[in-house]
Amino acid sequence: MRVNIKKIIALLSIYAVGTLSLSASTVYLTEDLKLSEADVQSGIVLEKKDAVSSLKGFRKVDSTEIYATKNLSLKIADVKDSKIVKVSKKGDIEEVVLSLNIKEDKLSEDYYDAWEEREEIFLEKCSQCHASPEIGSHTMLEWEGLYLSMKGFAQPTPEEEIAILRYLKTFAKDGIIKEEE
Ligand code: HEC
Repeated sequence: MRVNIKKIIALLSIYAVGTLSLSASTVYLTEDLKLSEADVQSGIVLEKKDAVSSLKGFRKVDSTEIYATKNLSLKIADVKDSKIVKVSKKGDIEEVVLSLNIKEDKLSEDYYDAWEEREEIFLEKCSQCHASPEIGSHTMLEWEGLYLSMKGFAQPTPEEEIAILRYLKTFAKDGIIKEEE
């Protein structure tokens, strides 16, 4: 049997590209998780490398509450086991990295898998009277104020309020996910 060298080279290069892209990727957590080390909220952005997912965040020095951004506006996790926290910078606000073992079926490469439900609540509550507002044109802080001025109109339940605020802040101008057009 003659070996087709070209074919082998092609296969090898596909393999190389494949392993490269597998080494680290951005994934989204699709449901709230209570792990032994931390409670983690769905929708967050994780870096996945092999079996380990890592979560980057910020906190007040030694606090158990981890936020997505430096302004400590969007909480993403509660840490139970301080050993899992790696602090990479000191100051008033610490930058931290949590390494978590999260099962594959709880992760998705598409943010929409994690945010669909909250987007529906947002659309239901916030596009009855006007077109749904452009989330990316306001910051998290601006959304806190705008939301309060609209709360009386929208009449959300406490659960809906949490969902709407998390959705607004996550996709805000200074949020953690940029919506793809
Ligand atoms: C019952 C009707 C109603 C509902 C429901 C409603 N809005 Fe509004 N919204 C208005 C009206 C009326 C205005 C314009 C007058 C004003 O600014 O108060 C407005 C204006 C806005 C503006 C522009 C304000 C500005 O100053 O630029 C934003 C942003 C907004 N709404 C967001 C929301 C969000 C988010 C929700 C859901 C939580 C929501 N709205 C639900 C009636 C509504």
